[in-house]
Amino acid sequence: MTVCEYKPGLEGIPAAQSSISYVNGLEGILEYRGIPIQELATHSSFIEVAYLLIWGELPTQEELESFETEIRYHRRMKYQIGDMLKLFPNDGHPMDALQTSAAALGLFYARRALDDPAYIRQAVVRLLAKIPTMVAAFQMVRKGNYAIMPKDELDYATNFLYMLTEKIPTPYAAKVFDVCLTLHAEHTINASTFSALVTASTLTDPYAVVASAVGTLAGPLHGGANEEVLIMLEEIGSVENVRSYIETRIEKKEKIMGFGHRVYKVKDPRAIILQSMAEQLFSELGSDKYYDIALEVEKVVEEKLGAKGIYPNVDFYSGLVYRKLGIPDDLFTPIFAIARVAGWLAHWKEQLSVNRIFRPTQVYTGLHDMPYIPISERMAKADSNGH
Ligand code: ACO
Repeated sequence: MTVCEYKPGLEGIPAAQSSISYVNGLEGILEYRGIPIQELATHSSFIEVAYLLIWGELPTQEELESFETEIRYHRRMKYQIGDMLKLFPNDGHPMDALQTSAAALGLFYARRALDDPAYIRQAVVRLLAKIPTMVAAFQMVRKGNYAIMPKDELDYATNFLYMLTEKIPTPYAAKVFDVCLTLHAEHTINASTFSALVTASTLTDPYAVVASAVGTLAGPLHGGANEEVLIMLEEIGSVENVRSYIETRIEKKEKIMGFGHRVYKVKDPRAIILQSMAEQLFSELGSDKYYDIALEVEKVVEEKLGAKGIYPNVDFYSGLVYRKLGIPDDLFTPIFAIARVAGWLAHWKEQLSVNRIFRPTQVYTGLHDMPYIPISERMAKADSNGH
């Protein structure tokens, strides 16, 4: 076996073969199963995209209708899960609540043979259907309210916003949210997807796969940059302050949140779509001074850092859009998870078809042949103050 060079973060090392999505960071291309993201954002829906990602091809009308119907009728959660959410601390992070409740689903739905297509289908339907209900329910119970039951007559995006805000959103707001889900549904082998693959490779149940991916997405280096963008825009406070704020941040070698990407060296195609949606949303629901500040930030950052390939990423405009839809800032990452469940499940299914348990190697940097020193002979260690 060839001994490979150790690469921190496995940068550039293929860890899987996949036909689910493709990214070309120099040309700003993102495709799901070969279909450009722009096409899907314009013509498709999140549920159709989930079907495409998981089953590999666009559904026929009949297939889509039966998939949507199944999801619609599995949105309710077990009352025990609702009771469990009530016991969580109100100030607990919604991502922690989601990770726990996603794992808890595994208690209710018996583990069955992973080569049974009916079991795979049921797990896909349940996870896509119930995760939004659990996110919305935690939001309600942490405010001291009863969780709002899903309404069967509402489509996926409309129903989620209804359960979250107690109001039926406008069709345009629901469409914008649905497109946001499509844009976040899949993005090759990022950290949470890799986590899902490793967990899947042990042949554990899909609820554990999704719970481990949610835990990975929760970290600030992965999900969550869109929250930071809003904090930054608030700190800037006005269009006039943008230039000096950005220049100071660049001088201090601080990152501008919502800019830059390991893969994209041009403007993230998802940011282009989100920006045009933000523009329409603000013209429909009222303008937002932070959107004007964001436009100026983009202009100044492009002028200063464009030559280094630093452009807006998907997180730059998504927080502004979510806030305008009435979504609290700490739900941005759980919403990312609602969308990414589709990608995680697609990778779970793909992993099962070629499974071999992940068991990489390591480069050992420790000692050898050390003596065991009896506790009575061990020297006291200096404390952290050096005493
Ligand atoms: N603002 C200012 N400078 C930046 C930024 C930024 N946002 N991003 C990268 N750079 C600069 C770095 O300072 C570095 O410059 P140098 O070569 O002069 O030292 C160079 O560009 C390369 O930066 P790295 O951090 O090495 O790039 P990497 O590929 O490791 O990081 C990352 C990508 C983490 C996304 C980074 O651009 C960043 O921290 N951005 C801000 C946070 C953010 O928006 N994250 C969301 C990413 S999208 C997502 O996860 C869904």
